[in-house]
Parts: sequence; structure tokens; C-alpha cells
Amino acid sequence: MSKVTVFDHPLITHKLTIMRQKDTGSKDFRELLSEISMLMAYEITRELPLEDVDIETPICWTTEKMVSGKKIAIVPILRAGLGMVEGFLTICPVAKVGHVGVYRDPQTKKPVQYYFKMPQDIAERKVVILDPMLATGGSSNAAVDELKKLGCRDICLMNLVAAPEGIKAVQEVHPDIDIYVAAIDKCLNEHAYIVPGLGDAGDRIFGTK
Ligand code: PRP
Ligand code: URA
Repeated sequence: MSKVTVFDHPLITHKLTIMRQKDTGSKDFRELLSEISMLMAYEITRELPLEDVDIETPICWTTEKMVSGKKIAIVPILRAGLGMVEGFLTICPVAKVGHVGVYRDPQTKKPVQYYFKMPQDIAERKVVILDPMLATGGSSNAAVDELKKLGCRDICLMNLVAAPEGIKAVQEVHPDIDIYVAAIDKCLNEHAYIVPGLGDAGDRIFGTK
């Protein structure tokens, strides 16, 4: 079964509480999302393997360590996942970026895919799917399905807020996918929005409501 990690660092929790408030405007919302994404990226990359490299300092030659092996790709789920890209790239600037466009049909709550563009070597990379909200899990499961079709085998999810229902849905369909979140909320409401949540992440990032 996959691992679920909650990054309950005081700074992340504090910033998320500001984001949740309905009077927080798009500018602050975007900035806070970017800052939290940077902090989460720092934690997610903690386990990257290191290898020995020979380098020359101004004083002498020495053997030191650098990140080795598999490289990272981040895959934001459009639209709201875009708000997490800049923060992640601040910590990990060499990551490549794929995009998957999925929206939830307002009636059925089922995911509808409309865009998919990945780096050529995506199957050889560790893939981090970015989306602030894991609600029913439909959008994330759809993104993972498509990435697995391309041969990706090392995939994880990075979400800001998750509902228990969404975590369960991902674990049932993709038990190999680790999930990293800033908070696990109570439940979904009758419109499949996360409670207490923060509302519609895409609308709050882009000011479309
Ligand atoms: C939101 C959110 C997730 C999805 C989560 O996107 O950013 O992608 O809903 O819900 P789920 O887990 O039930 O699938 P939305 O459909 O609102 O599209 P948008 O980002 O373009 O606004
Ligand atoms: N999508 C959002 O943006 N927010 C929710 O609470 C659920 C789905």
C-alpha cells in the first residue's frame, strides 16, 4: 500500500490557514501556494540518491556528493496545478515539466481530459504530479493512468489539501503511488468540494469567480 505523508510543518500549516480564508485574494493566494510548494518540494526531494564526484576547490581536489540517478519531472494538472510549478522549480530547477489538462465535469464530477504533453524521457524520470486539491481522486487517477501508459513507474502525488475519500480512491486504483499533502481535511460535501477546504483552487488562483 502506498505511503501518505502529511507535511504538518508550522510554516506550511500557517500559510495554508491564510489560503483557506475566503477573504484572501488571488495575489496572496498564489504567493502562498508557491511558497508552500517550495517547502513541500524540499521535503519530497529529501530522499534523492547522492553519488561521489571529484571536484577541485580553490584549495585542493576532493570527493564530494551530488544528486545522482533518476531525474525529476513535475506534472501539474491544469489549471490549478500550475500554481505549484514555480515553487517546485525554485528548489529543483533542472526538473522537466509535463502538463496534463483535466477538469471535473460539474454534473458527473468525473474527470474530462483535454490536454497531455510530456517530456520525451518521462518514463525514465521520477514523476511528481502537482495539484492543490485531491477531492474525489478522479483527476489524479486519470493523470496517473495516462503516465503509466507511457511507461512511468515512479510516480507520486503532491497535493495541498486532500479529502480522505480522494486518498482512498487513489490507493484503491494505484496502490503504488505515494501521496504527499499539507493537510488531510474532514470530508467532501454534496458538490464533491473538500470540507473545510479552500474552495475552488483554480478560481482562487486565476480570479475566475
Ligand atoms: C480541481 C482541482 C483538481 C480537481 C480535484 O480542478 O484542481 O484537479 O478539481 O477534484 P477531484 O479529485 O474530484 O478530481 P477543476 O476540475 O476545478 O479544474 P481547474 O483546475 O481547471 O479549475
Ligand atoms: N476542486 C477544488 O478546486 N476544490 C475542491 O474542494 C474540490 C475540487
